Amino acid sequence: MTINKALILAGGRGTRLRPLTHTIPKQVIPVANQPILHYVLEQLHCVGIKEIGIVVSPDNREQIKHYIERNHWNLNLEYIEQKTPQGLAHAVIVSREFLGEDSFLMYLGDNLSGGRLEGILNTFESAKADATLMLKEVDNPQQFGIAEIGTGGEIKRLIEKPTNPTSNLAIIGTYCFSSRIHQAASRIAPSKRGELEITDAIQYLLENGGIVNSERLDSWWFDCGTKDDLLEANNVILSQFATQHIRGSISEDSEVEGLVDVGKGTVITNSEIVGPVKIGENCVITNSFIGPATSIGSKCKINDSRIIRTIIMDDGIIDSVAQIENSVIGKNCSIFSSRKSVDKKQFMIGDDAEMLL
Ligand code: G1P
Repeated sequence: MTINKALILAGGRGTRLRPLTHTIPKQVIPVANQPILHYVLEQLHCVGIKEIGIVVSPDNREQIKHYIERNHWNLNLEYIEQKTPQGLAHAVIVSREFLGEDSFLMYLGDNLSGGRLEGILNTFESAKADATLMLKEVDNPQQFGIAEIGTGGEIKRLIEKPTNPTSNLAIIGTYCFSSRIHQAASRIAPSKRGELEITDAIQYLLENGGIVNSERLDSWWFDCGTKDDLLEANNVILSQFATQHIRGSISEDSEVEGLVDVGKGTVITNSEIVGPVKIGENCVITNSFIGPATSIGSKCKINDSRIIRTIIMDDGIIDSVAQIENSVIGKNCSIFSSRKSVDKKQFMIGDDAEMLL
């Protein structure tokens, strides 16, 4: 029953993160300067799972492959194409050949979590379960699959995105399954949104004698579906993992405070940096304030600007912008201001944009 295989689901379109996702798959959007997928692979690495299937779409396959190959993850990885995003249970169906009769861990490739995987693997293995779900209390259960729990802690019923939720326990993006999930996935019908829901397949298991149990997550978790999720995930990850580590050069008239990580070749002059902040390699930062919860990619140039709670990807240029906050800015974007205003600006802009304010 020991789990040696994982299935990462990365076939979705990421529509709520457009325009970013027109050019960059959601799973490789950087959070604290690392693609979301990096954290997922790291979690699997920590529990020794090396045989991994990754469900991709025809559109994002090459970019995801490029990231994984460039970063030399030592994994036995198979790319499985899901031609159209027809639901999480459909992703399991298209992965049938890779999965064979093995039990496996399934991880949604856009989810970030501070929990570790040992707990769910032990709960699954010790109960010889057919499905083990990770659950977490949320404030907006209508937006998730939810689990109704009985007085003895057992799972009574699972419902996908209920209009009137009877529980606030969301099924978050980590599951363990036995091979019985395949039969369940083949028996369900599409939901109201036209997808084969994994929640319905697990409900089928419950109704047909399968052992379904759960594990509670007591750490943070984000399903990075929106700009606000991304920025909050960025903040939490920076706060947890950043250390003060300066590999670049900081002039004497600059001030650096808190968890600030500055990459090789970056030059900071007459600026104030207040962590948690990560700045990549070969950036030039002059006369600026870079404030908490901000990550800046490599080769960016920032002059005479204030930036707070923002993600800026590689090759960005920001010049004379009074204040940018709560923003996500794609690769190779330029934002200039011709006259120095006091306004705060918020952006969500995709790659290669150019703005003159
Ligand atoms: C999917 C699942 C849902 C689960 C959620 C977790 O929802 O269908 O049960 O709670 O992931 O992120 P989706 O992101 O497809 O709306």
